[in-house]
Amino acid sequence: MFSYDDYKRSADYIRKKTGDIDVALVLGSGLGKIAEMLDSPVRIRFEEVPNLPRSTVPGHAGEFVFGVLGEKRVLIQSGRFHYYEGNTFEQSAYAVRLFKLLGARALILTNAAGGINRSFSAGTVMMITDHIKFFDESPLRGPNIDEFGPRFNDMSFVYTKSLRDMAAGEALRLGIALKEGVYAFMPGPSFETPAEIRALGILGADAVGMSTVAEAITAAHAGLPVLAFSCISNLAAGISPKPLSHQEVMDAAVLVEKDMTALLDAVIKEI
Ligand code: HPA
Repeated sequence: MFSYDDYKRSADYIRKKTGDIDVALVLGSGLGKIAEMLDSPVRIRFEEVPNLPRSTVPGHAGEFVFGVLGEKRVLIQSGRFHYYEGNTFEQSAYAVRLFKLLGARALILTNAAGGINRSFSAGTVMMITDHIKFFDESPLRGPNIDEFGPRFNDMSFVYTKSLRDMAAGEALRLGIALKEGVYAFMPGPSFETPAEIRALGILGADAVGMSTVAEAITAAHAGLPVLAFSCISNLAAGISPKPLSHQEVMDAAVLVEKDMTALLDAVIKEI
């Protein structure tokens, strides 16, 4: 478990290279190219930053890229620390507290996800309105770090309504068909069984994935507003007639890259 000083030390390391930031953006599988939209980029490898675990998934770069977009100072996390890689949830979400300490006013999370809602197909972009994570530990388990937030934090408004309204407006303006829905966390690394997907659908999930919620919970605890998007890369198990593969997830990222880049660009400028 990490202490407030651990987080401060890591944030201070990044701040020396970037200064304070306005917005943090975490990129999911296959979306690494979006980092190229930043002016005067500064790259920081994960392994340089004290206490950060390594990213081990193909398609995840493993670096922060800091730069300016419009007038916003943006720190992009290209690569994730998934639970299925052996990280604790606290490690998974470690960077979120660094974003808070660096002064971020909003956190944008992106991921690749399987579609459960029958109106979705590969290439759909879904804005997350809420999530389901019933099992496994919490990133906040253990001694509470009061400097970040309270022991029992509210989870009623994790995906910030004002940011969602703004993003929906930008999507409309850009002609992007943005869907909305509930994201269910499953720990992976196996994809789900058809029975699990049927159950999640009955429980109200529209999409399923192996990331994002640890970060969202940690941001909510710290009072950091969150906006999150799932790029639907495949129909979830049992809805799709074919077996699922990581290659399919990577291939689908190409389908959404143009829309996601345009949407993120517009949204960041409005934050
Ligand atoms: N299930 C879980 N995670 C995923 C999926 C899926 O179908 N697709 C992309 N990430």
